[in-house]
Amino acid sequence: TYRACIFDLDGVITDTAHYHFLAWKALADGLGIPFNEDDNHHLKGVGRMESLDFILARSDRTFDAATRGRLATEKNDHYKTLIKGISPADLLPGILEAFDWLDARGIRIGLASASKNAPEVITGLGIAGRFHYVADAGAIPRGKPAPDIFLDVANAFGFAPEDAIGVEDAAAGVTAIKAAGMRAIGIGDASILKEADLVLPDTSALAANGLAVLAAQA
Ligand code: G6P
Ligand code: MG
Repeated sequence: TYRACIFDLDGVITDTAHYHFLAWKALADGLGIPFNEDDNHHLKGVGRMESLDFILARSDRTFDAATRGRLATEKNDHYKTLIKGISPADLLPGILEAFDWLDARGIRIGLASASKNAPEVITGLGIAGRFHYVADAGAIPRGKPAPDIFLDVANAFGFAPEDAIGVEDAAAGVTAIKAAGMRAIGIGDASILKEADLVLPDTSALAANGLAVLAAQA
């Protein structure tokens, strides 16, 4: 079994992964850089500046630090307008049931999102109070696929990594969970989330087909 369940946010708890994509797509279009939904899985779970660099690397122009800073701010300002109206109706199916399932068993609930907008998003969703600990993305230098953010949550609970599981929609995120020594539930495409211990197509049956299955293991 396990004593903590550590969630990713964007693309697991709510569909903000799509808003991140829309904001990056608008930026890339404005710069004449090709970027589409098929390229987007490379950016899931990846920090703001690293994501920008991935897109800019497809251009033949070079961008100095000041310009990169300005472009990152432009993307974030756009993203913030997209998440402004976020409400409890934007919770993905099965998420509240998953929280209830964990609470009923005394399993701690943590958040390991790379997004500096995470506090605003969970407040809008009305679930900020459901987490026993929320990692501060700004305080963790090495982003996913490094294990640091998942280890930070386990440490905050005083648990060994083996006592925690993680839930992720991103390849970089599943890699981070496994590098931390935790079991991973992937949400989405099993061919992209190969390293996960278990993959579900979506969160609708997360408690019964994901959380309960790993809880039944040694
Ligand atoms: C999450 C998302 C990424 C995003 C990153 C940073 O990991 O999956 O798409 O780039 O957070 O988000 P931020 O809101 O700080 O730019
Ligand atoms: Mg994600």
